Amino acid sequence: MAFIHTIRPPNKSEGKPITAYFKGSLLLTGANGAVGRSIISQFVSKPEYAESYHCIYTVRDISSAQALRSFLRGTIHSYEVLLLDLARLDDVRGFAEQLSTRISKQQVPRLRALVLNAAFLELQDQTWTEDGFDTSFASSYLGHWLLTLMLLRSMDYHMGRVVVVGSSVHDTQSLHNVVGGQYRGQKWKTIFHDSTDPLARGTWSSRRDDPSFRSGYRRYGAAKLCQVMMIPELQRRLDTDPILQNISVLGIDPGATPSGITRRGGWVVHIFIGKFIMFVLALIFSWFWPNAGVRTNSKSAIDILAATFECNETLGERPKGLYLDGNQLVEMGAEAKDRKKAGILWKDTLRYTALQSHETSLTNWE
Ligand SMILES: NC(=O)c1ccc[n+]([C@@H]2O[C@H](COP(=O)([O-])OP(=O)(O)OC[C@H]3O[C@@H](n4cnc5c(N)ncnc54)[C@H](OP(=O)(O)O)[C@@H]3O)[C@@H](O)[C@H]2O)c1
Repeated sequence: MAFIHTIRPPNKSEGKPITAYFKGSLLLTGANGAVGRSIISQFVSKPEYAESYHCIYTVRDISSAQALRSFLRGTIHSYEVLLLDLARLDDVRGFAEQLSTRISKQQVPRLRALVLNAAFLELQDQTWTEDGFDTSFASSYLGHWLLTLMLLRSMDYHMGRVVVVGSSVHDTQSLHNVVGGQYRGQKWKTIFHDSTDPLARGTWSSRRDDPSFRSGYRRYGAAKLCQVMMIPELQRRLDTDPILQNISVLGIDPGATPSGITRRGGWVVHIFIGKFIMFVLALIFSWFWPNAGVRTNSKSAIDILAATFECNETLGERPKGLYLDGNQLVEMGAEAKDRKKAGILWKDTLRYTALQSHETSLTNWE
């Protein structure tokens, strides 16, 4: 586990353990991304969050996390930045084991929330991980699943929340996907058939079969679908667990924002559409229809933090298995709600990760 930086507020380091000062920890993956940095910015701007929680920010690559480093400089809150490549299962295992050990020794407060925010989209290429998984699938879904299962024992058993940052791209029927046209045609209306293997190995919608940007967008959609399918399935299993039953799993679509997610799409897509056009649209929409499909990163971050920490009319006290579009409760796509498919995905995921019983505290893990 590589420490890049650790800071504690100056008046809170008088020899007492860190757990004496905080209500818990927030773990945020993909902290170096646009939405990730906005979440941090909104977090530190609210004393009720910044003074109450220790933050663990994970990044894939230290060298490209300079933006995050300089962004964090000058903020006063308790945080550490750790290296975690979600596309490498060994990395995820090592990370989760070391963090669990530190939490059990009270060197880090228990996890109040896991915000599963990192994601990987390839529009011009297709790559695979060392373990032979499609990189979008491994980064957005598989690594997050293993991380979550291994960290359940380190969560706050009363108030803990697992927040999946989803996307409308998980739902082939969503109107948001009409513009891109990636699911046009009967062939693409169903993502998950009777096995996860084509999605996991990247043979479904491969770049070889369709060299256009749409194939990569669909693989990203498949990874987001698996992530969203995890919400009801994990919640069902937690609900019957004698110790973990109060932990909530919920999902939130942050909406389309000007971000770096399109960076593997060439400059026209990335700079002109992904950043410039989206920036202008987000400003216009934020003025007239703040929860429209295109949003500012700060609006998305505020919604994600509300889903992470708050109890309100929309979320209730324990927002179990819910899915939000920004600040509104919505239904997840039909495939994401399909229990049979979710069961197949869970079994296949156990096979891919080779999870062992001692690695998770979830009773009904098999
Ligand atoms: N922006 C949108 O329009 C939009 C719309 C709907 C949903 N979302 C969701 O919002 C979340 C945040 O996206 P964003 O817009 O902030 O995109 P982003 O700027 O590309 O941030 C994504 C982050 O994930 C990290 N990541 C990718 N692969 C990883 C891996 N294998 N291990 C660890 N970290 C990895 C990236 O690390 P590097 O910095 O090292 O590349 C990056 O920091 C994602 O879940 C995305 O699906 C975004």
